[in-house]
Amino acid sequence: MNSSTDIAGSTSAHRGAILYFVSDPGSRDDPDSYVFHQDGVLLVANGLVAAVGPADSLLPTLPANVPVVHHPDGILMPGFIDTHIHYPQTDVIGSGGRNLLEWLENHTFPAEREFAAAAHAREVAGFFLDELARNGTTTALVFCTVHRASVEAFFEQARARGMRMIAGKVLMDRNCPEYLRDTPHEGERDSRELLEKWHGCDRLHYAITPRFAATSSPEQLASAGRLARDFPDAFIHSHVAENRDEVSWVRQLYPDARSYLDVYDQHGLLRDRAVYAHCIHLDRTDRERMAQSRAGAAFCPSSNLFLGSGLFDIQAADSAGMRFSIATDVGGGNHFSMLRTLGDAYKVAQMGQHTLPPLRAFYLATLGAARILGLEHRVGSFKVGCEADFVVLDPGASELLARRMARARTLTDKLLVLMSLGDDRVIGHTYVLGREVHATSAVPT
Ligand code: GUN
Ligand code: ZN
Repeated sequence: MNSSTDIAGSTSAHRGAILYFVSDPGSRDDPDSYVFHQDGVLLVANGLVAAVGPADSLLPTLPANVPVVHHPDGILMPGFIDTHIHYPQTDVIGSGGRNLLEWLENHTFPAEREFAAAAHAREVAGFFLDELARNGTTTALVFCTVHRASVEAFFEQARARGMRMIAGKVLMDRNCPEYLRDTPHEGERDSRELLEKWHGCDRLHYAITPRFAATSSPEQLASAGRLARDFPDAFIHSHVAENRDEVSWVRQLYPDARSYLDVYDQHGLLRDRAVYAHCIHLDRTDRERMAQSRAGAAFCPSSNLFLGSGLFDIQAADSAGMRFSIATDVGGGNHFSMLRTLGDAYKVAQMGQHTLPPLRAFYLATLGAARILGLEHRVGSFKVGCEADFVVLDPGASELLARRMARARTLTDKLLVLMSLGDDRVIGHTYVLGREVHATSAVPT
């Protein structure tokens, strides 16, 4: 399927503070890693970034008929990228459980059962995508359910909104309720057909999605490996080493593997564009293998705290050269906000006697995530030619935020305040391909 996107707006300019990254600021706030204009202009033409720079030099060059939208107190940034989230768990977000495996059984699996019905899937997918936009997230790597209908509905809704989205049908053929099982044959056939239909259609991409090693037989992981080999530019999306009981269970199910991660490796599922959620209970060999294979980790701090799974080790990831990004993992994560997720990531780092500098946090939620997904030439920054998916943050969105922000003197302090006090109220506007898809009523342009 291929049709051109007709929602790209014409030319417009947005004026306000502008921040985007060109590389990883690391732990030392590398000053060459980002571009900041206190009073900047982002010029958007046909849905793409046409120019970016300081207002005093760029504004005089614009033709008189280009509308300039002024966000006097706003901060423009690339839209956030959430590298691990489950749309079918939207309606069970915030459900309690002693741990991951109980939570899956009691809340997640029954909720996912409903996605056999296309109408239900469509309604939830539409709500989910609008909720992402309300939270400033413009691209996400998304789990659907085992049902084909859940994938069709998701891609249809994402396409209608013109959003760059990655998703796939869950593969699971054992250790889950009968009503959610496929077979290796059905899973491979359905994935292949969905991939051929949707991968590369407008702004959509397909992810081969074995849920986790515990719910796939060796035959099914072999079929996922075949798909990965046949479609080298498809994404791979799964979970690994989230919870200690899960790790022991996988060790029993795959006794010949060196580790949980090695199960995926043995089936050809570690490579560029493969994203593994959690990566908490890994050892040094695993982390080095992640680095060498160029697979990415999705650090899900809010979910890891909510489900009590453990603390992702940023320092160990860095010293092994393992690439990671940050994700909400809704519904294990208890909110859709990437700002709150960054705030939780900061706290998790503190618990590990480490610091997550605010510049690096915002890098991980934008360009860092785009790089893990291999989409850095399209989204995640304001490089000329990138797609104009962006947010306008309102640093005065609440009274408390405004009071605290009044004392913030430096950019890093402002960013720390945004990620430690901010939430969806801070997202003044969200734009997709230059078109406004969300605006709070409190922030007129
Ligand atoms: N592991 C396997 N399935 C899931 C899921 O749906 N959520 C989380 N957080 N972990 C998982
Ligand atoms: Zn998950």
